[in-house]
Amino acid sequence: MVPRRILVTGGMGFVGSWLALMLKERIPSSEVIAFDNLKRRGSDLNVPRLSAAGISFIHGDIRCTEDLESVGSFDLLIDCSAEPSVKAGLHGSPRPILSTNLIGTLNCLEAARRNDAAFLFISTSRVYPINLLNAVPFEETETRFAFADQTELPGVSCHGIAEDFPLGEFRSLYGATKLAAEFVMKEYAAFHDMPVLINRCGIITGPWQMARVDQGVVALWTVRHAIKKPLRYIGFGGTGKQVRDILDVRDFGELVLRQIANDSKWDGRIYNVGGGVDHAVSLAELTDLCQDVTGHTIDILPHLDTSPEDLRIYMTDHRNVSEDFEWHPEKSIRETVSAIHNWFRDNRDQLIHLW
Ligand SMILES: NC(=O)c1ccc[n+]([C@@H]2O[C@H](COP(=O)([O-])OP(=O)(O)OC[C@H]3O[C@@H](n4cnc5c(N)ncnc54)[C@H](O)[C@@H]3O)[C@@H](O)[C@H]2O)c1
Repeated sequence: MVPRRILVTGGMGFVGSWLALMLKERIPSSEVIAFDNLKRRGSDLNVPRLSAAGISFIHGDIRCTEDLESVGSFDLLIDCSAEPSVKAGLHGSPRPILSTNLIGTLNCLEAARRNDAAFLFISTSRVYPINLLNAVPFEETETRFAFADQTELPGVSCHGIAEDFPLGEFRSLYGATKLAAEFVMKEYAAFHDMPVLINRCGIITGPWQMARVDQGVVALWTVRHAIKKPLRYIGFGGTGKQVRDILDVRDFGELVLRQIANDSKWDGRIYNVGGGVDHAVSLAELTDLCQDVTGHTIDILPHLDTSPEDLRIYMTDHRNVSEDFEWHPEKSIRETVSAIHNWFRDNRDQLIHLW
């Protein structure tokens, strides 16, 4: 498809702002609109950045249908607006996460249906249950945990977690709201014949991720090293061996551009998206990398209590999305950490108040 008017909800957030910018640059004939309530601290810093690129901004809330109606017509909606923290609602009222991630997302879906528009959803690997992921047999090396070769569970292999990993059990309110929204999207794809695509993403990171505790761990680690503030290795023995795969946001943007160019798969299909085993790192290994890139060493103390929502290992099996869209993550973790460090150094004055 070649969309004429693209609405990016959450368009001033980390992922949304990158997608809006890459879309505007690579499909210049399109009008790109970033819609955001600027709830995320630091999202306001993206307003001049996107405006300079010719992207319009609508200050609005996805929970409010009138705000969405004020956008006018569009033919592609990319939903990047969310309460994106796995901790959201677990210790206080669940109302904000339920109203944004569930009701708000469904408002976006309905707005897309009314406009005969295609719908791209940024879901999360957090739809997979916590206790099942932590029950996968593992081995321990000097610097990290790794999935063991033998496991009875479907959807786990040396390539990571695939789309057929079981979905029973609990997953956090964040994961539950995303999964519930996915279910409804599948109904829209089937019964309204609406073009819908769902990317279940692992960790996405890069410059302009505001590096707060409830956001990406890679940006947090890099910036804390840059400003010489301490960190903690929380849980799983307090040695920093927990592992995640990392996807650079610019690699994610390349995938989304390919998905838009090839709309034959937009039938409610779900893809696991992430850096994969070749882009996996433990916290302890990330520390070494951050020391190298920033030239700073900071205190990182062990904290033995494991948070109930935390995972020992998550790695994305992205073979399906790679095959269907001829896409592979290109940027190394070192390149991504260096890019975050350079961005922070170049914008330190406007960013420092965030921490
Ligand atoms: N960053 C990651 O590692 C990652 C991984 C998997 C999935 N995702 C998903 O990607 C999407 C974007 O995440 P992100 O990392 O850019 O987060 P972010 O917090 O940087 O961006 C979210 C944006 O949505 C806006 N927003 C929040 N509530 C809103 C509302 N009610 N109405 C309008 N705007 C609202 C915020 O102000 C913010 O600008 C989310 O759906 C998230 O669940 C992110």
